Amino acid sequence: MIGVYDSGYGGLSVLRQLRAVLPRHDFIYLGDSGRAPYGGRNSDTILDFSEQCVERLFEEGCRLVVVACHTVSCVALRHLQRRYVPNAEAPRRILGVTIPAAEAAVAQSTGHIGVIGTTRTIGSTTFSLEIAKLGPHRVTGHAAPLLAPIVEEGWADTDIARLAVQRYVDRFEDIDVLVLACTHYPLLLPAFQKAVGPGVQVLDPSPHVARRLVDWLTRHPGFTEPGQGKLSLLCTGDPEQFRIHGEKFLGGELPRVQHIAEEQGRLAHRDRMQVVIGQVVR
Ligand code: DGL
Repeated sequence: MIGVYDSGYGGLSVLRQLRAVLPRHDFIYLGDSGRAPYGGRNSDTILDFSEQCVERLFEEGCRLVVVACHTVSCVALRHLQRRYVPNAEAPRRILGVTIPAAEAAVAQSTGHIGVIGTTRTIGSTTFSLEIAKLGPHRVTGHAAPLLAPIVEEGWADTDIARLAVQRYVDRFEDIDVLVLACTHYPLLLPAFQKAVGPGVQVLDPSPHVARRLVDWLTRHPGFTEPGQGKLSLLCTGDPEQFRIHGEKFLGGELPRVQHIAEEQGRLAHRDRMQVVIGQVVR
């Protein structure tokens, strides 16, 4: 079973690609939707949240966790990989999305790569560092903090989304590839393609992430075996909302979503969300 972790629903767009190339594998997806968006949070918080989520997935029985979230991949992956060092008792691995995205960008660009993502993704400069290891390309990053909330609101196909995308895209000059370094942006692909115009390729990294995972599994047998193509879902937010929003990202109906919540620093299963209204003291 392969664990896939994202700050919320967006990583389901990555999961969709992973399931397309690995249809017989079982997946368990954890969306930290109750604490999303991560993109404007400080890195300490992202490190704490990501530890809890990855630990939950290991406890669910995963040996391999794919961090689908660009913000977590850029800010916390190195920390997570050091914190959960694989050993004989726990042969586990955590992989991210930044390197496959950087490789695809370098393969497609002849000179100047644009990267658009959350404030924390761009502020981390991780993309520039990874691209610099692969080629002499120029890299320009711009944060687009409004875009993920617009998509979460279900407004991807509206003029508000198109105007916001155009406004952010106008900040880039002379790029030939624009990397969509946020799990939410594939839902804005038509708006991006229109905004960049001809001559600039808009790159959705998720198919490349999927291909690299297949390649990785071939080189690292034993981390997961093909199963029955089962999908399990966990989220920290409202499971019903997750199911409704998630369908847009996964491109199909979602199975039952289980609720998990933070209890003493770890994520535990809860039968239902707690709802407490009113007050005791007046
Ligand atoms: N999953 C996040 C990412 O790919 C986007 C949403 C958020 O800010 O949490 O960066």
